[in-house]
Amino acid sequence: MKPKVLITKRLYPEAIQHLRQFTEIEYNNAEEGFTAEELLKRLADKQGVVSQLTDKFTAEVMDKLPNLKVISNVAVGFDNIDIPGATKRRTLVTNTPEVLTETTADFTFALLMATARRVVEGDAFLRSGQYQEWQIDLLCGYDIHHRTLGLIGLGRIGKAVARRARGFEMIVLYHDAVRLPREVERGLGLEFAPLDTLLAESDFISLHVPLLPETHHLIGAPQLAKMKRTAILINTSRGPVVNEEALARALASGRIAGAGLDVYEHEPTVHTGLLDLKNAVLQPHIASASIDTRTRMCVMAADNMVAALNGRRPPNLVNVELWPQA
Ligand code: DGY
Repeated sequence: MKPKVLITKRLYPEAIQHLRQFTEIEYNNAEEGFTAEELLKRLADKQGVVSQLTDKFTAEVMDKLPNLKVISNVAVGFDNIDIPGATKRRTLVTNTPEVLTETTADFTFALLMATARRVVEGDAFLRSGQYQEWQIDLLCGYDIHHRTLGLIGLGRIGKAVARRARGFEMIVLYHDAVRLPREVERGLGLEFAPLDTLLAESDFISLHVPLLPETHHLIGAPQLAKMKRTAILINTSRGPVVNEEALARALASGRIAGAGLDVYEHEPTVHTGLLDLKNAVLQPHIASASIDTRTRMCVMAADNMVAALNGRRPPNLVNVELWPQA
């Protein structure tokens, strides 16, 4: 008998085919996921779940799912899952790293450029019929080339953003819990900086940290107060890394110049203070959303699930202590 798997939301078809071959699937081929109650009901007889960021797996939820052996999350992030809780219950958790690195870095740069050069405002200005004549100071923004970019978090995506910044001849500072070996810093053209120095010296600050208790509200009023008045904050990591209330105030008062956001503290709700601001470019969590990348993420999640349910170590295991590498 094939193991039973729930797919909580629509996936690209390549992944469905693969899962169908090796498992008995219940597929919610819809944009909307299940309510917490419905999710529990549907998972009662399943050994695996292919989940998305909107599905929450708390210890309380997992307690009610003793048959659940594998949670295959279609994302590199896994803050929707209580990892220590899963490990305690011996539930394998997998994610989809690497395949989205370059696409997310592309989008981070797109957001940075759109915010600095007022691309969204320009589009709205033109469509509303306001473009009557070329003007010397029309929608002037900030230069990107030769400016200083501060990267907070230098994992795979942070490094990929740093590579792009080199093309713009930017000075790139970074701050991370772990400093890179000097030769890697040199190779990437990066300079390590204490957080306060990075905040004070950067023209653009881009966040690339996972959401952890230590990174919750990493950027709040005290950090915004240390930034240049001309600074632009970019967030393609996780919303709660930024105190959105403090950011809305800083943007409204001109404490900083702008923000490009793809993620929100209480997603999908966006702080009302941000919605009316022209100096905030707001996107609906689409940094990894290219067709190729999202297809690869789905296929990777399917591979992880099939491996785990067939007694093989899943290639992208998060709670590695459950299956140490031979
Ligand atoms: C992730 O993978 O964690 C992103 O937020 C969605 O691609």
